[in-house]
Amino acid sequence: MDKYILGIESSCDETSASVVKNGRECLSNIISSQIELHRRFGGVVPEIAGRNHLLAIMPVIDEALAKAGVTKEQIDGVAVTYGAGLIGCLLVGVSSAKALAYALGKPLIKVNHIQGHISANFIAFPELKPPFLSLVASGGHTSIIEVSDYTKYAPVSATMDDAIGEAFDKVARILGLPYPGGPEIDKRAKLGSPNIRFCPNLKARNDHAYSFSGLKTAVVNYVHNLTQRGEEIPVNDICASFTAEAIGYLVDTFIQTASEKGLTKAVLAGGVAANSYLRQELGKACDKAGITLFVPPPVLCTDNAAMIASRGYYSFVAGEDLADLTLNAVSNL
Ligand code: KG4
Ligand code: ZN
Repeated sequence: MDKYILGIESSCDETSASVVKNGRECLSNIISSQIELHRRFGGVVPEIAGRNHLLAIMPVIDEALAKAGVTKEQIDGVAVTYGAGLIGCLLVGVSSAKALAYALGKPLIKVNHIQGHISANFIAFPELKPPFLSLVASGGHTSIIEVSDYTKYAPVSATMDDAIGEAFDKVARILGLPYPGGPEIDKRAKLGSPNIRFCPNLKARNDHAYSFSGLKTAVVNYVHNLTQRGEEIPVNDICASFTAEAIGYLVDTFIQTASEKGLTKAVLAGGVAANSYLRQELGKACDKAGITLFVPPPVLCTDNAAMIASRGYYSFVAGEDLADLTLNAVSNL
């Protein structure tokens, strides 16, 4: 019988709800973004984000159900992001999901946000099946995760310091570009030339761990030096050079890891997966290495609840990660 999961996502600055059928078919994916609210602060202000999730959450859930043409009573389970993320934001989603599950007498399923990002690929690609290796590149995470089955996720490596999206956002900020910086750098990079080398020694480590703070600091120092000398800042060239270095390093490390593990199927996930240069370069590198690559459309790369509903469905059918009213948000999950 068909199973309908209501997904709820509120870990950062997007309030989202979605109904997904059988883990794969997205019937609705409503996303209320707070980007405009946070832009003047140059980043997400957690208290403002939490308060706005509270205003948006019930209308977003109602809209997701209405658009899917599914009533609350027809839902088989409620899946919610319980971490990682901003604590005050996560709590809004978790509390709403608990209240709904309790009132409707439906199972409550807890979902790890990063595993949710990876699951966006199950919606985008109906034919995709584990095992595969995933590259998660977002504002909070840069990780390589091996997915051996629908509910078996094993971290292979992560970043030792900044996440790649964080580096994009900080570089954009120092260049005076609006928040969120990633999409702005993506646009500017296309207008510039990658003629600056910030970190000549940036290369894949043997343990496949990432580190982006050195590259970020090198760009910040470069801009400060030019400013102090009163010279013009070549914004587009800096964007192109930073992108080439950051993405080149991200891709090389991932391909090296996949080759060592002998995995020939890969998926890309997370907000930075919307980056056009990453999509292009990872595609080329995977082709060369004989790896089949899956890349979701940009709307499924950034935070959304469809990915949470899909991940929740697989836990639901496996009888795993079922939560009760003691479920709490875990900011550093
Ligand atoms: O996955 P996400 O929506 O939220 C987190 O879970 O962190 O990722 C947001 C991150 C931000 O750092 C944003 O600047 C970055 O994804 N991003 C991009 C692009 N679109 C979003 N970075 C580079 N190029 C893009 N086109
Ligand atoms: Zn995310």
